[in-house]
Amino acid sequence: MIYLTRHEHFNAAHKLYNPAWTKEKNEEMFGKCANENWHGHNFELIVTVKGEINPDTGYFINVKDLSKIIQEHIIEKLDHKNLNLDVPFLKGVMPTTENLAIAIWNELSKHLPKEAQLHSVKIYETPRICVEYFG
Ligand code: NI
Repeated sequence: MIYLTRHEHFNAAHKLYNPAWTKEKNEEMFGKCANENWHGHNFELIVTVKGEINPDTGYFINVKDLSKIIQEHIIEKLDHKNLNLDVPFLKGVMPTTENLAIAIWNELSKHLPKEAQLHSVKIYETPRICVEYFG
């Protein structure tokens, strides 16, 4: 089994806000991310897939195909979007980076060829904090 990793980037807006709570409680729980009028992050997305090398090609998935799948099904849906309002696969989900990693995993799994198994989805919300999901 060998692992292949692709780095991608997207910008998106969100707010973390539980409407069942007061403004004060939301600010206490979510800090600056509770700002009513949204804010943005520069997200880094790191996707690792694994598979067995095909002796005829020397790889298990063409890196261009992997890049295309991630672009088409994930980046184009998220980049320059509002994560609370614009993204069908995040409907009804509190758009924390944790939930975003799980949603990306679920979405991406549907579109990968059988030769490439998803191993991890890692997202940096800032250069110093990241979430990693292994399914
Ligand atoms: Ni935020």
